[in-house]
Amino acid sequence: MDDYHDLWQRTWAYLTMDEPRAGLHPIPGTKPITIEALLLPPVMYYIALLFLPPPPPQAVDTILLKLLRTALATMAGVLFFRLPLAYYIPQSIGLNYQLSLVGLYGGCRVLDAFFISPILFGHIPRRVRYEHQPRGSDKPTDPKKSTEDLSKNHIGFADSNAGAPPNWDRVPSLPLDNYWPTGASDAANTAMDALYRTWSGPTMQPVHQHEIPEDGFPHTFYDRASWALELELSMRGMGFTLTTADVKHTRETWLPTVSNRLHSIFVHVLPVVAVCLGIIRFTYDNYLGPNGDPPPFHGPSRFDTRLSLPMQLLLTAALGAFLMAAFSLAHSSFAIMCAPLAPSPFAFFPPLYTIPIWEITSVRKFWSYGWHRLFARLFLVYGVWPGEWVEKKLTGKGPKERADLGKVVGGFLSSAFVHSFSVRSVLGGDWIKARGEAQFFVLNGMAVVVEGAVIKAVVARRKKAKAPLEMWYDAWYPATNWTTAAMDTKNENKDFRNTPEYAEYQRESFWASNDGKVMPFNTEPGALEDRAKEKLSEGGWLYASSNAGQSTTHLANRQAFFRHKIIPRMLVDTNKRDTKHEIWGHKTSAPIGFAPIGINKIYHPLGELPVAQVAKELNLPYCLSTAGSTAIEDVGKANGAGTRFFQLYMPHDDELTISLLKRAVDSGFTACILTVDTWQLGWRHDDVNASNYAFYHGQGADLGLTDPVFQQRLKADGIDPKTMPNEAGAKWIDNVWHGRAHTWEKLPWLMKTWKELSGGKPFAIKGTQAVQDARKAVEMGVDGIVVSNHAGRQVDGAQGSLDALEKIVDAVGDKTYIMFDSGIRGASDVVKALCLGAQFVFVGRLWVWGLSIMGEHGVRHVMKSLLADLDIMFNVAGVQNVEQLIGNREWLESHPAGQTMIAERSRL
Ligand code: FNR
Repeated sequence: MDDYHDLWQRTWAYLTMDEPRAGLHPIPGTKPITIEALLLPPVMYYIALLFLPPPPPQAVDTILLKLLRTALATMAGVLFFRLPLAYYIPQSIGLNYQLSLVGLYGGCRVLDAFFISPILFGHIPRRVRYEHQPRGSDKPTDPKKSTEDLSKNHIGFADSNAGAPPNWDRVPSLPLDNYWPTGASDAANTAMDALYRTWSGPTMQPVHQHEIPEDGFPHTFYDRASWALELELSMRGMGFTLTTADVKHTRETWLPTVSNRLHSIFVHVLPVVAVCLGIIRFTYDNYLGPNGDPPPFHGPSRFDTRLSLPMQLLLTAALGAFLMAAFSLAHSSFAIMCAPLAPSPFAFFPPLYTIPIWEITSVRKFWSYGWHRLFARLFLVYGVWPGEWVEKKLTGKGPKERADLGKVVGGFLSSAFVHSFSVRSVLGGDWIKARGEAQFFVLNGMAVVVEGAVIKAVVARRKKAKAPLEMWYDAWYPATNWTTAAMDTKNENKDFRNTPEYAEYQRESFWASNDGKVMPFNTEPGALEDRAKEKLSEGGWLYASSNAGQSTTHLANRQAFFRHKIIPRMLVDTNKRDTKHEIWGHKTSAPIGFAPIGINKIYHPLGELPVAQVAKELNLPYCLSTAGSTAIEDVGKANGAGTRFFQLYMPHDDELTISLLKRAVDSGFTACILTVDTWQLGWRHDDVNASNYAFYHGQGADLGLTDPVFQQRLKADGIDPKTMPNEAGAKWIDNVWHGRAHTWEKLPWLMKTWKELSGGKPFAIKGTQAVQDARKAVEMGVDGIVVSNHAGRQVDGAQGSLDALEKIVDAVGDKTYIMFDSGIRGASDVVKALCLGAQFVFVGRLWVWGLSIMGEHGVRHVMKSLLADLDIMFNVAGVQNVEQLIGNREWLESHPAGQTMIAERSRL
């Protein structure tokens, strides 16, 4: 008893658990499904159906009722469509997929039944019965004509003599007498009759099948209720399996006998089931779950990690074939049970699933092997039939001419959409990844078309050459075609990844010398720095490389990385890996941005422009410094459609601050990042010694000099920047800081001002190192914090920025958007910072060196190399996406902080 209780409790806990199953990424904003959400739409739909014509009893056929019906149907439709958009099923990926299908099919079905069919086509879905007419040895009867003929004297279920035996005389050649052995009067005989009829079934013969809508239906409330149920169920094909209502069949068909069906079961279906079971069992026992070891819920799937590609294909084929065969088995068994109903059409299910699997030699056969019938409604009504209609309209074909191309294209397009939609819901709303499904269907659609064209051409040629029209090898053409369409032989990487394949930059470089090319320069950080030193002026080099004091903070920045070691994972499917990320609603190629760095003109004559340009090209956010040497507007233009933030050094002149922020907003900067660690430059020996500060020497103040408010200030002081560039530059930068601190009290004003000017865009502070400061910033309502120590250029003898990151993430990581910089020199550093909880990182000196060495090409080479390094790092360390890393310290083995500082200045 306890066991049952325990089992029940565990089942209940499983059913009600809100934790999404690993691999399921709920679409943001959706919530776990509720029973009401699941039940309401079908119930409303059902009630509305009860009042849909065929005319309801007059007594209730009032305007009010019609309004109610329309309201219910509209609501049901909306709720159906809303299902996959608002909810997810946490426990199961498969059910989540189904939820999408049900939502989509359900919504379309309601639309179709209540609005599209009745209003546009004057058609109310009705019960259709099928009648069979023996096929002559040559041509089929004109189905339309014969249907009309049959309808004329039709007295089936719909006749006013309801209950009278159907007039089957209209199918004279069906040997009905066989079914009615004489003397079936008592119970035993009746049972024997039933058994006999079950065993013998109707005699097999070729027939024409006619659909006859049942006029006058329904007769009773029960009829209506059951018809509504059929419509409800046929939404997902189930109704079709249980009834023959409202589904179109081929006009030429075959009435199989029970022994045909048994033959099909034993000769075709069961061998397939047995072989498939063997393969599935063998694979599971030997590869997927040996020693009763349950499959892992987290981490990479064993399917990917333990099976070779051929094994994966084999298992997939076996599972697929098993599913088909199981349908076939169920279907044939059901039909055998229905055999006593003969000559009712219920006894004559067309032999849908009884094709032996080895006869699937063409794309067309594959698809007619049951699938499209299961998804009949949406697939046919919204795909196949409209496609057929369009082709006929475009080509002027008559109603009886075939329009296969339109059918195929329409069918595959609808399938592509429906399946991608469902996959997308499993992938957290990601259409791009779900594209794989669409691609599969589109490829198959194209394969059918190609197949048709090839067959046509071959037949035409044979006719011309008066050769036999059929050859033994014919089936192999389409089979080959199908195989190539279904399997993608290329590296799936490119087609499925969201982000460009940066790793190819490595291959390009390996190949380059074959084409007489050389790579621009070595991006190894030490070599990069050496090369930049060679290229830069003395002032440029000193300003970029110098750090505060004895450079110990800079050293600590680098050492902080050394104490964390990455623990790579192997045999992970990284083929679809993705470095893309999002920051404040901007989708970027990677969680990497360009840190704000001032006075770029001392590194390259074009200053900030090439940097902003490359940032846009690589889709990485660009951050412009207030100490930049180019007008805000020009940088905005160079960055174009890129993502850009404005880093503010706050002047001690509010009007000037407002002017700068306004210019930033007008130039498309979408966040303000206030740097709080620089009220003046740290003590940098080399710069002090060399009297090295560009602003005081007439260089780099362009951003200020182009500001209308600052221009007024210059004028007021009688400073003409053309003749007095040193004074103008000094006034600009002294206004921005020199030595005067801002305090927390100023923050509310600034935040309010920025929010008002920008329409509520994000505001963050940069330079935070203390947990207390981080807490305070969060309390004040910032949208983000950049944990940074300015590359070790401000406070000497401080902790490494990465060490600060760890503590700040622990304190406020769940309350605000945490970014990081200071010390990043390669992909491994990016990975470590993400694992410690940074959601985004900025790099500074790396791109400065690139800019110094080769301008735009240099920046591009350095940043492309970093992206390639990261992409390759993901591949070799088994990382599939950025989200796997963020805040996940299981990727790291971390040694305690506080190791001895080596008495050596870090070169990097
Ligand atoms: C900076 N940094 C900086 N920060 C800022 O907010 N405004 C600025 O104008 C500058 N200028 C600047 C110049 C130079 C030469 C350096 C090296 C740095 C700091 C920069 O934004 C960032 O915090 C660090 O550069 C990140 O460290 P790494 O990646 O350079 O190690």
